[in-house]
Amino acid sequence: MNTNRTFTMLKPDSIEQGNMLPILNMIENSGFKIIALKYKRMNRDEAKKFYSIHSDKPFYNDLVSFMTRGPIIAAALEKENAVDDFRSLIGSTDPLDAKEGTIRKKFAKSKGENAVHGSDSDENAYVEINFHFDKNEIFS
Ligand code: RTP
Ligand code: MG
Repeated sequence: MNTNRTFTMLKPDSIEQGNMLPILNMIENSGFKIIALKYKRMNRDEAKKFYSIHSDKPFYNDLVSFMTRGPIIAAALEKENAVDDFRSLIGSTDPLDAKEGTIRKKFAKSKGENAVHGSDSDENAYVEINFHFDKNEIFS
């Protein structure tokens, strides 16, 4: 298990609002190396599977609709302590609770449409990177 990798998605709101490059800049400037990158639109089956851990939550249907309404950027990132450091960089789920200087504080509009995804564990980072990328699409 690689403990120096995490996975992120720039969610459809980030792309719609023209924040793709500013967010990627923040990620790189915070010391993360982008080792895989993809611009794509998820279909409903993919989004349901990706967020299946939330299938019993009241926000699940809205989350799937949101995540499929337009393209996303999927990326695998490398850095020492990647999962925890990236969660610190993105900030709390609800931008109202997010600290100054975090991506969600700067770019997220609401708890539902909150600009970016970040893996919450090394195990999930591994699963999520493999969900979106083949081995030959990763350049470490
Ligand atoms: P993510 O998985 O996208 O990185 O977000 P997270 O860990 O900070 O939050 P999580 O609890 O895993 O929730 C996943 C995503 O579902 C949407 N959400 N909406 N309306 C709501 O109350 C609500 N709660 C969660 C957000 O898009 C959240 O990031
Ligand atoms: Mg989560």
